[in-house]
Amino acid sequence: MLAFDSETTRLLDIAYQGADITRRRQASFDALRPNPGETIVDIGCGNGLLTAELARAVGPEGRVIGIDPSRDMRSVGEKRCQDYPNVEFVEGLANSLPLVDAIADKAVSVQVFEYVDGIEGAISEAMRCLKPGGRLVVSDLHFGSFIWFSEDPERMAKIKASWDRHFVAGDVPERLPGILKEQGHHVENVAPVTLVDHVLKPDGLAIMMMQLMRQYATANKHVDPDIANAWFDEQIELSRNGRFFFSITQFVVSARKSA
Ligand SMILES: C[S@@+](CC[C@H](N)C(=O)[O-])C[C@H]1O[C@@H](n2cnc3c(N)ncnc32)[C@H](O)[C@@H]1O
Repeated sequence: MLAFDSETTRLLDIAYQGADITRRRQASFDALRPNPGETIVDIGCGNGLLTAELARAVGPEGRVIGIDPSRDMRSVGEKRCQDYPNVEFVEGLANSLPLVDAIADKAVSVQVFEYVDGIEGAISEAMRCLKPGGRLVVSDLHFGSFIWFSEDPERMAKIKASWDRHFVAGDVPERLPGILKEQGHHVENVAPVTLVDHVLKPDGLAIMMMQLMRQYATANKHVDPDIANAWFDEQIELSRNGRFFFSITQFVVSARKSA
């Protein structure tokens, strides 16, 4: 699985403030509908961009608890939120949250469930921490929704196959509504957010993924470095020639805990 170490944290911190990832974070924020005074848990809060936005939205009467297993990610988040006394960062995992029952009005988890072993348990845990009727928003990319042009589809397939090993599951969105209903909760909405580009933007999702995918494929010896570099360079060249095309869909799933 991908290590959320200092180098991954550095790459994510740049791209996560770019237009693409800001748009998917905004969609998750909107689905959560934070109100002043609420207590909100940000599961897998990472570098704390959403955590900070939630802190401002709930205000001084509210509380935001960011939970993440990576010390590198948490420390960037802590710095970002240092002026918000209503935020705390806690070490923890989605399927064993370090929280008492029914502590929160709402919980959110963006781009995390793909790294969780057993999303059924992670949903039960999130719901356990919510008050009856509380809202849970889980938002993930569906890695089966890639459309990504290359003149060497075989090489592209090798890189994608390597990336498929960076997570526990790439198909979280299609399983979430069913699991939520099986556990007796009400699915409010499933909203797609498609990120599509015909230019390789310096602050976009595609360039961040290209850097992470090349690094992951070579570090884990899934793909020869020459092949990974040739794949990377081809994408830069396609963009220079006006033939770049990249698209992937994020799904924002909102649910309410049974009363
Ligand atoms: C792609 S980042 C997303 C961060 C943040 N939610 C955002 O959207 O900006 C994934 C985060 O999930 C965390 N993570 C990985 N496995 C986890 C688990 N089992 N439980 C909770 N968080 C986890 C990582 O440490 C990392 O910070």
